[in-house]
Amino acid sequence: MGVRGNMLLVLLILQGILAVRNLFQNPGLESTNGWTCLDCSGSLSSDKRSGSHSYHVTGRNHDFSGASQEVQVSGGHYYYFKVWVKIDNTANGKWYHDVQGQIDILHNNGQHEYQQVGETNYVFPGRWYLVGGDHYVAGNIKSIRFYVQIPEAGVNYHIDDAQMDEVAYLSNFANEANQRIDNLRKANLAISLSGSASPSGLQVEIQQTKSEFGWGSAVDANMIVDGNKKAYQNFFYDIFEWAVLENAMKWPAIEGSKGNYNYDTPLRAVNSMESKGIIMRGHNIFWGGDFVPNWQKSMSGSQLRPELEKHIKGMVGHFKGKFRHWDVNNENLHLHFYEDKLRDQYITQWMFRETKKLDPSATCYLNDYNIIANSGSTMAYVDQAYWFKASGVPLGGMGIQSHFGAYVDVSSVKRRLDEIAAVGLPVWITELDISEPDETKKAKKYEDLMRLYFSHPAVKGVMFWGFWDGRHWRPQAALANGNNVTPNAAGRKVQELLKRTWRTNETHNIGHGQTVHIRAFKGSYKLLVRHNGHVIHTQNFSLGGHGNNLKINLSGSGSNPHVDHVLIG
Ligand code: G3I
Repeated sequence: MGVRGNMLLVLLILQGILAVRNLFQNPGLESTNGWTCLDCSGSLSSDKRSGSHSYHVTGRNHDFSGASQEVQVSGGHYYYFKVWVKIDNTANGKWYHDVQGQIDILHNNGQHEYQQVGETNYVFPGRWYLVGGDHYVAGNIKSIRFYVQIPEAGVNYHIDDAQMDEVAYLSNFANEANQRIDNLRKANLAISLSGSASPSGLQVEIQQTKSEFGWGSAVDANMIVDGNKKAYQNFFYDIFEWAVLENAMKWPAIEGSKGNYNYDTPLRAVNSMESKGIIMRGHNIFWGGDFVPNWQKSMSGSQLRPELEKHIKGMVGHFKGKFRHWDVNNENLHLHFYEDKLRDQYITQWMFRETKKLDPSATCYLNDYNIIANSGSTMAYVDQAYWFKASGVPLGGMGIQSHFGAYVDVSSVKRRLDEIAAVGLPVWITELDISEPDETKKAKKYEDLMRLYFSHPAVKGVMFWGFWDGRHWRPQAALANGNNVTPNAAGRKVQELLKRTWRTNETHNIGHGQTVHIRAFKGSYKLLVRHNGHVIHTQNFSLGGHGNNLKINLSGSGSNPHVDHVLIG
């Protein structure tokens, strides 16, 4: 190995060390060293998540009372904090709690800045939950103190297995992402020519007809079939291969008043898109909080339960086999209407089991927010997925909404995505939008996020949450404007990426006995064989996995060749 090779090895080892470096002292909590109980009593406990001990917190008088550790770091970086927490009891009148990872940043001027890095909601006594998140810590600081907060006093808890590290800054983001895109999203295609005829003037062309990676958008169920909305439809069909109905499948839209159903609107849209080869996600069967139908708000748990069962049957009965994914209980990390009404912490798990039982070919997804646009719920989401997996719930994928404001930082977004990917399930970005008034900046931000998602091994597809400012919940995020649905700078960038940059369409001259090698994006293709400019054969094929070989066998004469067959594989 030469000097460059040695340097590379050292760099790789260094990177590895940095990746696992824990900035907390005594992160395994096998002793109390380094940990302080703020306004509480802390002691070593044999009730542990791993190793032999955890740290037990009792006597909490305030929300902030809890286990803490001060760490000396320099500012100007993002830091990530994680810890496992188990609560012992609930406060009066509560049957679960929200647990927060907090930091107290001590600035050089002596001032304290308190920030929440993440919150795990809906925490019940007796199970270990993952709590944490990240925060950008500006320069001029003395130290950071991490602590675990519960809004209610009197709740005792344990902590174990803590982790704090610096989030890697991606100084070479685009190049590294492009390299990953090449490795992950492309495969080798070899096209060779043999047979009894050996004419000159032969060409092979490959046209990519579908992408293996899913690119799609939310659509309005009426506009996508309305004869007066051709510009809207053209924009959509030109670049997208996946769709989700933005609102028409939600329970209030399906059953606005009890017993009166409107399946027709979504069915018309779904059938129309299906006939055009669009693949769809089903959004959503349940959605708690204020998004339940009004007629449910005053119902008791026992009145509600049979309605839930009826609703799954109705939805699956009408749409069975039409959706690749179901968003089963939208945003259930944050909204607990059904859990609270039925006083059943397992109701979402039941919803997953029932949906999968009735529509086995569909994959059941979680779909939530504050997962990568910020770290508010990242660790809670990871925790929930581990819990579902361990409980045998048919959870098939993790939906991440991805609603961004103007601030987009790919380094921290990638780190959050890596945390999600560690669960090992397929990830879909289900609701991408970036609300940014400046068109040029918006174009760059969409490009960065799309490149990050496309380059991430866990991500299998990206859905935009709308594209037209005439039908967008945040019009400043739109890709196209006005009556003609005219692409703006962001829309033009998305078109360029999806139609050209990340698609393969190539033509090559080829002679008898020759092989053309193409590194092409994975997906479905059409092969055209031309002789002196005239198409003499077309053939569909797909390119995936580790690549494909197409062997074209020619017969006929030099002036009138024809393709006998194309061997694929
Ligand atoms: O269609 C009626 C229109 O006839 C009426 O004049 C108008 C007056 O308010 O309301 C229109 O319906 C609104 C509909 O959007 C279409 O614009 C509803 O009131 C409004 O509640 C609805 O908001 C939707 C929201 O979910 C609630 O369902 C947004 O369009 C939709 O983008 C948003 O989508 C959610 C995802 O489902 C879950 N994740 C977050 C995402 C954004 O909030």
